[in-house]
Amino acid sequence: ATDPPVIFHWLPIIGSAISYGNDPLNFFFSAREKYGDVFTFILLGRKVTVALGPKGNNFVLGGKSTVLNAEDAYTHLTTPVFGKDVVYDVPNEVFMEQKRFVKVGLSSENFRAYVGMIEDEVQEFLTHDPSFSVFQANDVNEWGEFDVQKVLQEITILTASRTLQGKEVRAGMDKSFSELYNDLDGGFTPINFLFPNLPLPSYRRRDKAHAKMSAFYVDIIKQRRAKGNHGEPDMIEALMQQTYRNGEPLKEHQIAHMMIALLMAGQHTSSASGSWTLLHLAANPEVADALYQEQLKNFSNPDGTLRSMTYEELKALPLMDAIIRETLRMHPPIHSIMRYVRDDVVVPPSLSAPSEDKTYVVPKGHYVLASPAVSQTDPRVWKEPLKWDPYRWSDPEGVAAQAFATYADEHGEKVDYGFGAVSKGTESPYQPFGAGKHRCIGEQFAYLQLGTIVATIIRNMELRIDGVPEHNYHTMITMPKTPRTIRYRRRKF
Ligand code: HEM
Repeated sequence: ATDPPVIFHWLPIIGSAISYGNDPLNFFFSAREKYGDVFTFILLGRKVTVALGPKGNNFVLGGKSTVLNAEDAYTHLTTPVFGKDVVYDVPNEVFMEQKRFVKVGLSSENFRAYVGMIEDEVQEFLTHDPSFSVFQANDVNEWGEFDVQKVLQEITILTASRTLQGKEVRAGMDKSFSELYNDLDGGFTPINFLFPNLPLPSYRRRDKAHAKMSAFYVDIIKQRRAKGNHGEPDMIEALMQQTYRNGEPLKEHQIAHMMIALLMAGQHTSSASGSWTLLHLAANPEVADALYQEQLKNFSNPDGTLRSMTYEELKALPLMDAIIRETLRMHPPIHSIMRYVRDDVVVPPSLSAPSEDKTYVVPKGHYVLASPAVSQTDPRVWKEPLKWDPYRWSDPEGVAAQAFATYADEHGEKVDYGFGAVSKGTESPYQPFGAGKHRCIGEQFAYLQLGTIVATIIRNMELRIDGVPEHNYHTMITMPKTPRTIRYRRRKF
């Protein structure tokens, strides 16, 4: 048995931090050429073993939490932001119970109430925010422009707070809450991951904002308790009713901290995905038009206006679904999923197979890293992987299905990634929401939120851009580089 190969680097502690930090995908693809699917690189003194491909995803995401551990990898980043006693600040079994509580709040019943609320918020934003002055001027001939990332960040937090977070948080968005959010967010960056505590103003602002935000939520809980149950279709309401298996209810500060965790987990992931979706629609007006036609076909009133969608109807829109799915294939918001290695772990030979008499062992103390972003844009798996083509998803005999077949053929084995099963299981090339124990629970909410935002925008305007920007990897979540200005024109009704 031998350690995985270490990527060559000149600077002992820094290692490959610069090339990884600037463009992790390029770094992974080039390293794979030289070292294969499993290799180690140095990231500011940490030893990180990367495992690529569907089997690499399976190795990292399907591992036992006692060996490949998430909380040891993330807590120094997340606990100062989310707070104590939730998520990665508790043992895995406790967090798994907490995830189950959150699922109760993510019910179809709640979701049914959300579509109309999100539509209202977006319509309101288009009608009043200065970014859309040309739209508001009601001129159907003039083109205006907006910064897609800025607009999507605002729309995402307004819609998440109106729905999941609840009306008190939504009301706070117009006042002090958004400032607290910004300060807290300033503590959720790659620098905070690398250096958990530095004597810098941004760290102090993070800690102050956390304390205030936590108190804000605790206050909401107390006020709701005092007034009795009001049956709000939101997460605070759902969490207030949950008890651990040992019979203890969730404590107020735990509810508060879980709400902060959910806010942070959903904000940049959804706003980035929404931005990329609009960028591709703007760059592909024929697809945007087909999407608009899908809306017209399903929701036209006799007088030509469009009626609201129901949650069930939204879920049954094939092109909308394919557009979001394809955008998440090319731009999964999270490029690196990490675990801390608590015990030496053998890499399955089918993943690495350096030679017949040698297997790789990842030593205790390393981190392992999966990057579904690699398998999602791998030419070994996908035809024309860098082409944004939502139609590859709509035809089960089509490009995507063939792509999976190609993968199976080349690997001389029958691998059935199955159509609907594409994002399930831990061994799959398509995992924008991760897989296994730590898989995302926000997927349905994200599809609902994105689908409603995109539908409302596409109903109101045409979009154009001359090319889709490249990835900016310097943020925690992969964002589009500037300029990311979309031109728009109000539709005639
Ligand atoms: C976990 C992606 C939206 C809550 C994850 C993971 C990924 C992911 C890749 C796995 C992380 C890991 O294994 O270390 C996304 C994407 C989103 C999205 C692409 C939107 C497009 C949301 C939303 C929420 C949410 C809206 C909350 C409402 C969570 C939670 C976890 C998670 C609670 C579990 C973390 C764990 O078990 O360790 N997400 N997410 N996500 N996500 Fe999301």
